[in-house]
Amino acid sequence: MTDVTGIATLIGLFTEDGSLLPRSVWDIAASIDSYVVVTGSDGTVLACAALQEYSPPLAEVGAVAVAGSAQGLGLGSRVVRAVERLARMRGHRELFAITLANHFFTHLGYREVGVVRYPEKMARYGNSAKVGIDFGRPCAILSSRGRPLLI
Ligand SMILES: CC(C)(COP(=O)(O)OP(=O)(O)OC[C@H]1O[C@@H](n2cnc3c(N)ncnc32)[C@H](O)[C@@H]1OP(=O)(O)O)[C@@H](O)C(=O)NCCC(=O)NCCS
Repeated sequence: MTDVTGIATLIGLFTEDGSLLPRSVWDIAASIDSYVVVTGSDGTVLACAALQEYSPPLAEVGAVAVAGSAQGLGLGSRVVRAVERLARMRGHRELFAITLANHFFTHLGYREVGVVRYPEKMARYGNSAKVGIDFGRPCAILSSRGRPLLI
């Protein structure tokens, strides 16, 4: 349960400015096997990311967060790579991310694509405004397409 509250606390640091969508402890607990975390020696959650599955081959990498004091050390890259491995183990071949941190994902080999490429995303939420995503903002959809997910 510690990881669940730690993940919720970490994500909560980045929801106010719109970097991340809010996730409740209940949502996180229900899908905890789709989260990866890096913890400090005292058990504090320093970084997290989550796999959100659509029909294979597609999945989303989201909830990527690194505590301020641990940013710039490669932990964000590590948790995204860990989600890629999890996705691959579960049969997905393509990941996408919706993000304001474009450079972070291009650094990892993702490239910008349009949301129209992912009708599954729109179908799941029906109306993007309901989940707080405003595609009129300069957030980008980045895809791992064309590059094998790491193992
Ligand atoms: C984005 C975030 C996860 C990066 O974590 P991190 O551990 O600091 O990243 P890394 O150390 O692995 O950095 C890898 C690369 O991404 C770049 N990068 C880091 N944070 C970035 C950001 N906010 N925007 C753009 N690029 C970023 C780094 O400069 C580095 O590139 P470089 O080697 O060319 O300089 C972290 O800043 C964060 O938690 N931000 C708030 C939440 C967020 O925006 N999440 C992403 C949306 S899903």
